[in-house]
Amino acid sequence: MKSIVVLVSGSGSNLQAIIDACQTDISNGKVTAVFSNKANVYALERAKKANAAAHFLDPKSFETRDAFDSELMKQIDEYSPDIIVLAGYMRILSADFVRHYMGKMINLHPSLLPKYPGLNTYQRAIHAGDEEHGTSVHFVTEQLDGGPVVLQARVPIFEDDTVESLTARVQSQEHRIYPLVVRWLVEGRLEMKSDKEACLDGKLLGPQGYASE
Ligand code: GAR
Repeated sequence: MKSIVVLVSGSGSNLQAIIDACQTDISNGKVTAVFSNKANVYALERAKKANAAAHFLDPKSFETRDAFDSELMKQIDEYSPDIIVLAGYMRILSADFVRHYMGKMINLHPSLLPKYPGLNTYQRAIHAGDEEHGTSVHFVTEQLDGGPVVLQARVPIFEDDTVESLTARVQSQEHRIYPLVVRWLVEGRLEMKSDKEACLDGKLLGPQGYASE
């Protein structure tokens, strides 16, 4: 059984999608632990309901980012993780942390990368007058939102869209694609080749991941 550790900062709807998939499609994977950098978030309740260990680690108790990340690494490693999943984890990672989990850590970012790395992607897409937006699953490298893309989902932006309506449309796609990528990792079908390339079933993926067109 592959051990999946999930890092969160919020409601955890994507964590839930992965927990649910582990009951059905992902037969050889289990969410063993969930770590949050925010107290009392709903994601931790979801973890407890799923019988996963639920941890809150308070950044305020540490003097530096490196000290926080080093303790987080120590605690994560107690679960012998095969896969680290960032699911709405809204904290910059230190270089040591990224290197430690290189090739087995994935992130979900709400934009069609390489467009709009960073924050406020929905506002930026609407203000730019874009006709589409979306979300990307990618391996985590030291470049923020810059690692190889594995899978994207695109949605239209309509004229009367608000940040809320567009967020809801994108998130419903996230709940489909994120568990699928976790499944590929659990099944050993997905591999990071370099800081720009990933392979699925031995075939190199394009810059926007699997079947982006
Ligand atoms: C997700 O929509 C994800 O794309 C975003 O946070 C949300 C978490 O929702 N991630 C980022 O912005 C990372 N930069 P959830 O807590 O309901 O899964």
